[in-house]
Amino acid sequence: MTTKRILVTGAGGQIGTELVTALRSRYGDANVVATDIQPLPAAIREAGPTARLDVTQADALAELVRRCDIDTIYHMAAILSATGEEKPRLAWNVNIGGLYNVLEVARELGVRRIYNPSSIAAFGPETPKVDTPQETVLRPTTMYGVTKVAGEMLGAYYHRRYGLDVRGIRYPGVISSETLPGGGTTDYAVEIFYEAIRHRRYTCFVRADTVLPMIYMPDCIRATLMLMEADAERLIHAAEYNLASLSFSAGELAAAIARHIPDFVCEYRPDFRQQIADSWPQTIDDSAARMEWGWQPEYDLDGMVADMLAKLTPRLAG
Ligand code: SER
Repeated sequence: MTTKRILVTGAGGQIGTELVTALRSRYGDANVVATDIQPLPAAIREAGPTARLDVTQADALAELVRRCDIDTIYHMAAILSATGEEKPRLAWNVNIGGLYNVLEVARELGVRRIYNPSSIAAFGPETPKVDTPQETVLRPTTMYGVTKVAGEMLGAYYHRRYGLDVRGIRYPGVISSETLPGGGTTDYAVEIFYEAIRHRRYTCFVRADTVLPMIYMPDCIRATLMLMEADAERLIHAAEYNLASLSFSAGELAAAIARHIPDFVCEYRPDFRQQIADSWPQTIDDSAARMEWGWQPEYDLDGMVADMLAKLTPRLAG
C-alpha cells in the first residue's frame, strides 16, 4: 500500500480535531498535516505536522500541498448555518471560495481524493421531512445550505470533468465531547450537556418539539473513514450521501439527560435558529450509504447520552 499523505483543513473544528486524531492513528502521525486559520490545540500540534492555513488563499494551499506531497484532502473548514445567516458574505467566501481552491489545487497538483462534507442543511422547506430521500428537492433557505448544494454540484463537476475522486456525506448535526461546535443550529444538542453538568439548567434556543437528525462523533468519524476507504467502483452517489443515525426532539434529549441528572431543568426560548431548524428534515433515508459502502450506526440516543456524560462529567464537574 502506498503511504497516504493527508491534509486536513479546519482541523481545529468540532469534527476536524477528532478526525485528525483518527487519521493519525490509522495512517501515521507524520502523514497527516493538520491546518486551520486559528491556532490548533496543543495535542494536535505536538502529535504531528501542522500549518496555519486560510482556505481562501489558493497560493498558500498550493504551496503546502506541494511541499508536503499531499494525495488526499479532508476539507473540513466551513462557516456553519447560524453564523452564515449573520455573515452571509463570509459564508460564501469561505465555503465556496475555499472549496473552489481545494478542487483547483487538487486538479493542478494531482491530489487523488477529496473529502467534501455536505449537510442536512442542503435540504429546505420543500424537501420531504420524514425519511428524506437521497434524490430529492435541494432548495435550502440558508446561505450555509446554498453553499452546501453548490459545493455538492462543484464536487460532482470536478469528478465528471477532471476525474477527481470527490466524496462526501450530508452530515446530520454532530454531537461530541472533545471540541465544541461553533455557529451551527444543532449546537444546542452539545451545549445542553455542558450546562446540565455545570448548572443543572439549560435554555434551549429551539422548541422542545424540534426534531432534527443527529449523529454521535464516533459514528461520524467511522462513517467518514468508511466512505473514504470504500472501493470507488461501489460508489454511485460519491459526493452527497444521506446519512442517518439518531433523530430526536430537543425535549427527548433533555429527558434522556434528566434520567442521569434528575434535577436538570431545560427551558425553551426559540431564537432565529428555530426557523433554520424548521427548514430541515427530521429523519433521513440513508439506504444508498448502507448499500454502497455498508454504513450502519452504532449509537442510539441513550447510548450516546450515557457516553457523553461519562466523558464530560469528570472534566467539567468541580
Ligand atoms: N450542524 C450544522 C449546523 O447546524 C448543520 O450541518 O449548521
